[in-house]
Amino acid sequence: MRDLQHVAIIMDGNGRWAKERGLNRLRGHYAGVESLIEIVRTSSDLGIKYLTVYAFSTENWKRPLEEISGLFKLLISFVARELENLVQNNVKVGILGERSVLPEDVNRSIDKALESTKNCTGLSFNIALNYGGRAEILRAAKKFAAQCAQGEADAENFSENDFSKLMYTADIPDPDLIIRTGGERRLSNFLTWQSAYSELYVTDIYWPDFSPE
Ligand code: FPP
Repeated sequence: MRDLQHVAIIMDGNGRWAKERGLNRLRGHYAGVESLIEIVRTSSDLGIKYLTVYAFSTENWKRPLEEISGLFKLLISFVARELENLVQNNVKVGILGERSVLPEDVNRSIDKALESTKNCTGLSFNIALNYGGRAEILRAAKKFAAQCAQGEADAENFSENDFSKLMYTADIPDPDLIIRTGGERRLSNFLTWQSAYSELYVTDIYWPDFSPE
């Protein structure tokens, strides 16, 4: 296998997976968490350095309230259930996205995951949560403007590399490979800045059926 440092995944198709089985959409997300746990473990075993998954986009707020709160509950239970395993496997958790508007219990759970894994040196597992690629670029542009106004940055000598440092992914290399399950051939506002040179792999398999193989 080609040397992969950073793999990013758009975990799509949970809803369709559930619908095909006559189940509530949330059941698809539950099943999706099981896939995720397997993929984190395999990424770690394969020696991949960075894994980034799209768990909740800025667009996902348009979904029914029941589904949104179900997704957040799922994240909290994922942390409660998996944190010990993650630490044991030396997995460091990171979050990409705007955290300030997330529910308090979600932020508490995230803080716990970040704190408990901060010294881990194996797989860096990043969860994109309330993440949007354009929002991220705009946020970086605002930071840059503020730095210029303070005399801390110089527009003339500002490079792509400098701008990358203002992203949520400041310390993370760009993804080598972006995988999208569920068959749709687009990026949906995921890692818009970072994906410039990424290889794309789209599979029709729904996320709950996506396996390490
Ligand atoms: C897209 O499927 C998937 C999501 C919006 C959420 C993905 C979340 C998880 C797999 C679990 C929660 C994450 C963590 C980190 C515990 P969709 O609902 O858009 O599927 P559809 O396109 O078939 O409707």
